[in-house]
Amino acid sequence: MGRRFSIPLKFFGVFFLTILLVAGAFTATLNNLRQQVSRNEARAVADQVTAFRSWVAQSGMVWVQKLAPGFHDFLDEQTDAKGGVFYGKNPALATRELAAVAQRESARASFRVTSDNWRKKDNAPDAFEAAAIARFKGDKTLEFVEQYEGGKYRYAQPLLLEQGCLQCHGDPKDAPRAVLEKYGSEKAFGYKVGQVRGIVSVTVPALGLNDVLKSLANPYALTLLFISLLLNILFIRSVVVRLVALTRNAEAIASGKLETVLHYTNPSESNDELDHLYHAVNLLKRSLVILFKRVNPQGGK
Ligand code: HEC
Repeated sequence: MGRRFSIPLKFFGVFFLTILLVAGAFTATLNNLRQQVSRNEARAVADQVTAFRSWVAQSGMVWVQKLAPGFHDFLDEQTDAKGGVFYGKNPALATRELAAVAQRESARASFRVTSDNWRKKDNAPDAFEAAAIARFKGDKTLEFVEQYEGGKYRYAQPLLLEQGCLQCHGDPKDAPRAVLEKYGSEKAFGYKVGQVRGIVSVTVPALGLNDVLKSLANPYALTLLFISLLLNILFIRSVVVRLVALTRNAEAIASGKLETVLHYTNPSESNDELDHLYHAVNLLKRSLVILFKRVNPQGGK
């Protein structure tokens, strides 16, 4: 059995433990928040991509008159009455080109569309994407899948089949000739509205815990921390330090040093229990002085 701890030690123990626990709770909250921020960022991108694709699908395809440098791919080709050539871009292709433009302009987020049942090899999913697709197919209520991967935050959102997608992903009979010519009648047909056709996969730079902690170094947080430190110092001075001093004084009196002077506020002006304790010890000391004088009238000072 060891000795019991001193009150200052207990106080500092509780103080530091409280700080550690509060810091722990704070870090957990910040960590949560950091994930939320990345999720919202990725989700905003995914929603935009889905809306854009939906617009393209509702228009059937987008027809462009000029193939911009680096964007030579197209699904279909048409010539109008005046002999002008138009190139048709299906939603997946338009999305790929949009992603390339975003990449070129070094946007924070990169995105793509992929499926377990792909027509084009470039659209094949990687491990995270394949796992996400499997999960969305198994659970229709699942809204997103996320994962941290080497400093990146990855996010996937299901891409459901809409009415506008049917012409190219429903019955091959309805499909534009160009789709059948280019990809055949086997791949990525036979879908029904509402089925998981694939996913929108978004990658954004992960917010490090360091970045989040750095945001703590703002004037408001620092002022509050400083005030809480000041309050603790005041408490240590008014309770812990005085308790230790009283213990020393009482020990000195007990060992016969009756000249020991006790400093405290009179109990008539204080509700502080320590002042009352100081006062009681002081009364005991005076009684001792009187008692000693009676026992030994010549001795003493
Ligand atoms: C005009 C025809 C057309 C329409 C409309 C269309 N798609 Fe596609 N889709 C394609 C073609 C062709 C590909 C494969 C080539 C490519 O990536 O451009 C493809 C590819 C995809 C892919 C990528 C995987 C793969 O098969 O390579 C997904 C996912 C997809 N489409 C979903 C949809 C959804 C969802 C809609 C409706 C919002 C839709 N598509 C509407 C023609 C179409």
